[in-house]
Amino acid sequence: MIIFKKEVDVHAFLLNKKQEKQTIGFVPTMGALHEGHISLIHKSKSINTLTVCSIFVNPTQFNNPQDFEKYPITIDEDILMLEDAGCDVLFLPSTHEIYPDHFVKINYDLGYLETILEGKYRPGHFQGVCMVVERLLQIIPCDVLFLGQKDYQQCMVIDKMLSLRKMNVELNIAETIREADGLAMSSRNRRLSPEERTQSAVIFKTLIEIKDKIGKIPFDSIIADSKKNLEDFGFDVDYVELKDYYLHPIENDTSNKGIVALIAATINNIRLIDNMIVVEKNR
Ligand code: PAF
Repeated sequence: MIIFKKEVDVHAFLLNKKQEKQTIGFVPTMGALHEGHISLIHKSKSINTLTVCSIFVNPTQFNNPQDFEKYPITIDEDILMLEDAGCDVLFLPSTHEIYPDHFVKINYDLGYLETILEGKYRPGHFQGVCMVVERLLQIIPCDVLFLGQKDYQQCMVIDKMLSLRKMNVELNIAETIREADGLAMSSRNRRLSPEERTQSAVIFKTLIEIKDKIGKIPFDSIIADSKKNLEDFGFDVDYVELKDYYLHPIENDTSNKGIVALIAATINNIRLIDNMIVVEKNR
């Protein structure tokens, strides 16, 4: 694996590879890698001739400065995991490389996507995500961008950003990778104590229960039961919501629309999110 730290170097290298007709898959990350990230590397390798990963803990997407400070940095382990997975290129920039003095911040018109769910609880977060992903895509001329479904709303936001900025990049959303008890893999899971780690399986169990109950009892009751479930396991619940695939509101209607259930809940200051498609479209 070749490691680049400078924009000019990685950009020139990849442009050259494009001229050689290589297809480039790109997996942006903030490090503290786990099997979820590695599954994206594998997916990229299965459809591209060259796979690039970036590790950059992006300060502009943390609405909570403490979260930024506590973000785990495990760069040596990350490099070993990426080498093991057969990643071809790692881009490891400094903050100044991503946000140089001449960097011009823009405002992305994300519409309702920014006012609901994570957008509501983490003001400014998605502007920061768009800012860094657009910047990374300027540096990494990729054909396919890989993101995990665990951050469902982030996937929708990036999709919107790609169309707003008319970027010719295919977005490939990969399924969530879970621990044996169903907990969605996340870099934040490392901060959970063993007891909290065990309790956190309730999030996946709640999603499964939602899937079972859909169409049998009203949405309001499903949501109220789910919140109680999570609270009984010591979680403070930000939201349990049912939306259509594009995160529009839905009524008690399970006829032909896809439905996604989304949860955000905090235990001991560690905020976890997860989601599940609970009704497939046009079933
Ligand atoms: O999902 C993440 O890890 C980050 O939001 C991303 C896409 C790498 C941007 O910093």
